[in-house]
Amino acid sequence: MDTFLGSTTAGSLEASTPTLLAFDELQSRSLSLSVRATALVFEDPVSRRLLEQIERIAPSDATVLVVGETGTGKELVARHIHALSNRSKNVFGALNCAALSEHLIESELFGHEKGSFTGALTSKEGWFETANKGSLFLDEVGDLPFGMQAKLLRVLQEREVVKVGSRQPVPVDVRIIAATNVNLEEAVAASHFRADLYYRFNVATIQLSPLRDRPGDILPLARHFLKIYGDRLGYSDVKLLPSTELTLLNYEWPGNIRELENAVHRALLVCPSNFLRPEDFKLSGVRASENGPTISTTSLESAIQRLCEQAPPKLFDIVEETVIRTAYAFCEGNQVQTANLLDISRNVLRHKLALYGMLPNSQRKSTRVHETETTDEGFRLNGAEISPSLLNTN
Ligand SMILES: Nc1ncnc2c1ncn2[C@@H]1O[C@H](COP(=O)(O)OP(=O)(O)OP(=O)(O)O)[C@@H](O)[C@H]1O
Ligand SMILES: [Mg+2]
Repeated sequence: MDTFLGSTTAGSLEASTPTLLAFDELQSRSLSLSVRATALVFEDPVSRRLLEQIERIAPSDATVLVVGETGTGKELVARHIHALSNRSKNVFGALNCAALSEHLIESELFGHEKGSFTGALTSKEGWFETANKGSLFLDEVGDLPFGMQAKLLRVLQEREVVKVGSRQPVPVDVRIIAATNVNLEEAVAASHFRADLYYRFNVATIQLSPLRDRPGDILPLARHFLKIYGDRLGYSDVKLLPSTELTLLNYEWPGNIRELENAVHRALLVCPSNFLRPEDFKLSGVRASENGPTISTTSLESAIQRLCEQAPPKLFDIVEETVIRTAYAFCEGNQVQTANLLDISRNVLRHKLALYGMLPNSQRKSTRVHETETTDEGFRLNGAEISPSLLNTN
């Protein structure tokens, strides 16, 4: 269970860019142990629309149901709704309904009187009282025990709580933000969740898409976590290689943003240089690239086969030069990145680039193995046309 989570002022919530929103200092400090985002990344069009929806809903007092797969940012969105609401100066309380027994949940939510059960040595206020005039985040609300659902419904209707062991109702004014990663409609149909409580929660629903359905967020989020963990670990200059970006984009992210966050953190710990390589990310689960044609080498093979048919002299050198030229162009002339991408040493790369006459002030060595002629579409080696599309692996 989350403990006291502090408060923030709406006025101090400022937008540094249209899509990167800074939480205020006080709130980010109060977000306790885990990284808890100090900024929200909303780059993909899907996420931008979501942000607009959040901004529309937040100022009202409407109960909100946040629905999304694990790790999609449900809690972060709930905090953001609170931060943008008129209640932001007051408490944001968070309770994980799946983590507590029915008896404990009742006491946590509504409080208890001294002596009301064994171990109740003092009276205690519940979350509804603590979060009075603020917001209460009920996480994994689909796991709320059935008996508790009726009690909660009563509180939402009557706007008052009765502590365990008491008969005295206490008025409360709390905005509920509930979250679930299970389909509550199905839970209602299966009689695991009360329909009347579902309708209460479902006043405004925010549906968070899985990360695979908002690919425009993947790299901005990866850089965001790189910055956070890089600063923390003292590796501020670490960057993603272009090939790593491709790997991240091609991955399904079954654990969504949380998985991406953990993957970046882990990669930073194992990465030996200033560039995170694909192999620094130990990605589990299904990779799109394993199922799809994204990194298939089929067209590469057929390109080489066509070259074989032409049988130009020094075929291997042609292929090698093409690979190096293409990678060098892909890395925009950055030698370190190109060497990392190709997994060769920078010395070897520089030697080859010098050989091809591609280093500043270098001329193609007179012992060149083949003639190169740049064309509009690519270049020609020993008369063989090497266009980028020849090596297109899609
Ligand atoms: N839009 C975002 N921008 C930046 N960081 C984000 C964003 N969304 C989520 N995160 C980060 O991703 C991690 C997971 O988010 P969060 O805990 O809110 O997800 P969740 O849906 O509640 O996950 P779970 O289902 O596992 O409880 C957190 O560290 C959070 O700070
Ligand atoms: Mg959560």
